[in-house]
Amino acid sequence: MLVLGTRPEAIKLAPVARAMASDLRFEPVVVATGQHREMLHQMLGLLGVDVRTALDVMRERQQLSELTARLVGELGGVIRAQRPDTVVVQGDTTTALAGALAAFYERIPVAHVEAGLRTGVMDNPFPEELNRCLIGRMARWHFTPTPRAAGHLTREGIPAEGVFTTGNTVVDNLLWVLAEGAGTSAFRSCAKRILVTLHRRENQGHRMRGMGRSLCRLAGRGDVEIVLPLHRSPAVRDALLCEVDGREGFTLVDPLDYVDFVATLAECDLVLTDSGGIQEEAPTLSKPVLVLRTTTERPEAVEAGAARLVGTDPETIVSAAGRLLDDPAEYRRMAGAGNPFGDGRAAARILARLAEDVTAEPAAGLTASGPYSTA
Ligand code: UD1
Ligand code: UDP
Repeated sequence: MLVLGTRPEAIKLAPVARAMASDLRFEPVVVATGQHREMLHQMLGLLGVDVRTALDVMRERQQLSELTARLVGELGGVIRAQRPDTVVVQGDTTTALAGALAAFYERIPVAHVEAGLRTGVMDNPFPEELNRCLIGRMARWHFTPTPRAAGHLTREGIPAEGVFTTGNTVVDNLLWVLAEGAGTSAFRSCAKRILVTLHRRENQGHRMRGMGRSLCRLAGRGDVEIVLPLHRSPAVRDALLCEVDGREGFTLVDPLDYVDFVATLAECDLVLTDSGGIQEEAPTLSKPVLVLRTTTERPEAVEAGAARLVGTDPETIVSAAGRLLDDPAEYRRMAGAGNPFGDGRAAARILARLAEDVTAEPAAGLTASGPYSTA
């Protein structure tokens, strides 16, 4: 059973769902919780994911405790009724935490995709760092994107026999979408193109308004177009729209579907974001990323030179973006740094391991290769 509820979970579990659907050893049962309503359902058909059970847990501006309680209750009922062999969760959302907990209560083993990411600061990002730590305590299989993530888990006392480095499924999906054909970019002009996304809870409020003001200063250069797909969270829209709405240089759009988002990313010059997934996708497409957060659980991109952790101070954001727009040598260094997150075969590695452990099928070709636990 694959449990997903938000946009990034759909994107990152889609390669696993597709691979299972075309593999006779598995019967994938996809449960969509609807933690995101529009942003989830705009993805699933497009990504080739067939939903077996759809829940409808989203309520406008609902509190985390209310969302968590609703998810654990409803997922508990679904898991109890269907008794899957394994429950697969992805990442660090409330859906992932609740899916793991409900499965644990039903004594169904949990597989965690994108395991082992850590900032080391329990409330940043909030509440995701706690969510992923808790899922780590409950899971039997920990599929980590990188060796660093695997190291976090073994240092926390998780037995190494349950930890497998597979790469991140986000790369599988990005390559799949690129191979399927082009979407439509949201950029309209030939100016320097900046793609911006912001949504993190710990930045909402005055900090996000400050970021909005820094974007206005960048737009004020007169030589840039800023495409800003606005997250549907009302808290994000409240903070950003009061700063940027109606300003020259902005193209404000609703959340783009994944194919169009990838086309937009492929056309941009520079990315400013607090997103997790976009920190992984941008280096895969050779786009420099400025991470507008104080911590990152993806330091691999920073160490590779593909991303810079800029923080949330408006002055620093304006000067870091200006430097990249105006210094071609610095730009080339970042754009050429490469992608440390995967090779597009993460889902195949996950299936190989689950096939051996859950379906007792011999796992042909399960040998270690490069940074990965299995070839
Ligand atoms: C959630 C995840 C975060 C992930 C992000 C991806 C948690 C705690 N947070 O963020 O880890 O990075 O999703 O985008 O799980 N809304 C809609 N329609 C939608 C989606 C959201 O109206 O399609 C509105 C609702 O009012 C909802 C609010 O946005 O209550 C916030 O949604 P929520 O899932 O709580 O988002 P975040 O916690 O910000
Ligand atoms: N994304 C998208 N359309 C958009 C913005 C983002 O398809 O308008 C995709 C993006 O490619 C990435 C994922 O959504 O794969 C990231 O989601 P988000 O930033 O909401 O969550 P996070 O990755 O931070 O958990």
